[in-house]
Amino acid sequence: MCMRDLLPGAVAVAVADASAWTEEPLPEEAATLSERAVPARQREFRAGRACARRAMTALGLPPVPVPAGRDRAPLWPPRIVGSISHTGDYCAAAVARSGAVRSLGIDAEDNLELDEATRQLVCLPEEEEWWRGPGGSEPYWPTVFFSAKESVYKAWFPLVGGWLGFHDVRVEPDPRAGTFTARILAPHRRPDLVPDLLHGRFAVSPDLVRTAVVVPAD
Ligand SMILES: CC(C)(COP(=O)(O)OP(=O)(O)OC[C@H]1O[C@@H](n2cnc3c(N)ncnc32)[C@H](O)[C@@H]1OP(=O)(O)O)[C@@H](O)C(=O)NCCC(=O)NCCS
Repeated sequence: MCMRDLLPGAVAVAVADASAWTEEPLPEEAATLSERAVPARQREFRAGRACARRAMTALGLPPVPVPAGRDRAPLWPPRIVGSISHTGDYCAAAVARSGAVRSLGIDAEDNLELDEATRQLVCLPEEEEWWRGPGGSEPYWPTVFFSAKESVYKAWFPLVGGWLGFHDVRVEPDPRAGTFTARILAPHRRPDLVPDLLHGRFAVSPDLVRTAVVVPAD
């Protein structure tokens, strides 16, 4: 299952091929990348922007610049929402018209176990209990929780702004369906902007954990 399978048809998805990693960003995009960015950072930034352009083209839109805004969040053109993720040699962008989707977040992580400190930072006690119980034997669920919460954050931030911590969200997977719910627990949650209960999909392959969250349009 690939990122395309995790998102509804109204969302255009582009996954980086070999050429995306070397495609030059548009000048307005390059201007928002730190001059001190190391080559690996430049490479992932190029791939993310190339994928964003390709996804916008697939939606029938001109490939306009997507500079980085505050807190690194991409600045999508008016009436467009989207999300970018990269890890190692994988990069994807997902883009939709805001009339179809209010916000979305995608994330890909290497399918590796988390160290104990990170696992505790990411997982709530009830999430720990779940994956250590009968429902959670396979795959290694903390990385799925981690990726799901990153997707939630990327969908949340453009609508609300500000911080959302890992313990501010409780993820409940449905392993058979490949779906999850994410409940926003934060005292500063904004149900007027983002519903308290979000829905996402996940896929686990030998090398990658992929997740996606969509906030539907009204
Ligand atoms: C921002 C963050 C989510 C990025 O995730 P990551 O796994 O480190 O990296 P990814 O490659 O998957 O995603 C990076 C992309 O996310 C996007 N992004 C960065 N900050 C963002 C934000 N505030 N809102 C939306 N998208 C953001 C960018 O497009 C970035 O790529 P780019 O800089 O090349 O444009 C992560 O670094 C972070 O700060 N997490 C802490 C907050 C959090 O996740 N809380 C969970 C609460 S549920």
